[in-house]
Amino acid sequence: MHVRLGRRTDLPAIAAIEAASFSHPWPSARLAAYFDHEGTVVLVAEEGSPTGFLVACRERAADVPMLHIHDLAVAPPHRRRGAASALLAELIRIAAAEGIPLLRLEVRITNEGARRFYERHGFRVIRHLRRYYEDGGAAFQMEFELGARPNLGLPAPTRTQRASPRSSPR
Ligand SMILES: CC(C)(COP(=O)(O)OP(=O)(O)OC[C@H]1O[C@@H](n2cnc3c(N)ncnc32)[C@H](O)[C@@H]1OP(=O)(O)O)[C@@H](O)C(=O)NCCC(=O)NCCS
Repeated sequence: MHVRLGRRTDLPAIAAIEAASFSHPWPSARLAAYFDHEGTVVLVAEEGSPTGFLVACRERAADVPMLHIHDLAVAPPHRRRGAASALLAELIRIAAAEGIPLLRLEVRITNEGARRFYERHGFRVIRHLRRYYEDGGAAFQMEFELGARPNLGLPAPTRTQRASPRSSPR
């Protein structure tokens, strides 16, 4: 399995993984829009064909640059084999290369598997967002500070303020 930058031609595979992974999947058109935004990183894990993907947007909040993870999913038959970990490792590598000190995401509180995944990789809950999703579901906002993981060998980030949550929840 290897990880590479996503291409527009990956869209059908990405949409199929999205549909198999979420009760309210994003439509293809919304996924396609990610390829139009310069500040967006789309990564694909593949074993012959795509098995998982990650979408993150370069954002700033209160002057802190961050990569905000908007979507991450692995096709059910390929789970628990390290695909999401490899996608996240590549995102962290990109953040480090660009001097971005922070990763952020929102995860549904009831999504135990994803929460365990992020916790395992050093993300911390920073906020409880009630009625975050359109169906009224709550989320945890979680963050990962690159300097907080000693094995990356990076200098600690200088953070001044935390940003407010994004306004267009999935
Ligand atoms: C969450 C998700 C992306 C994880 O992908 P994955 O490729 O299976 O993850 P990995 O194999 O890299 O998992 C690494 C570790 O994370 C943790 N983990 C992953 N899935 C887990 C689960 N369902 N339950 C508990 N722990 C889990 C484990 O510690 C795992 O290590 P282990 O398999 O040695 O126990 C995948 O389950 C998925 O696509 N879920 C549906 C979509 C989703 O919820 N996305 C996140 C939205 S915020």
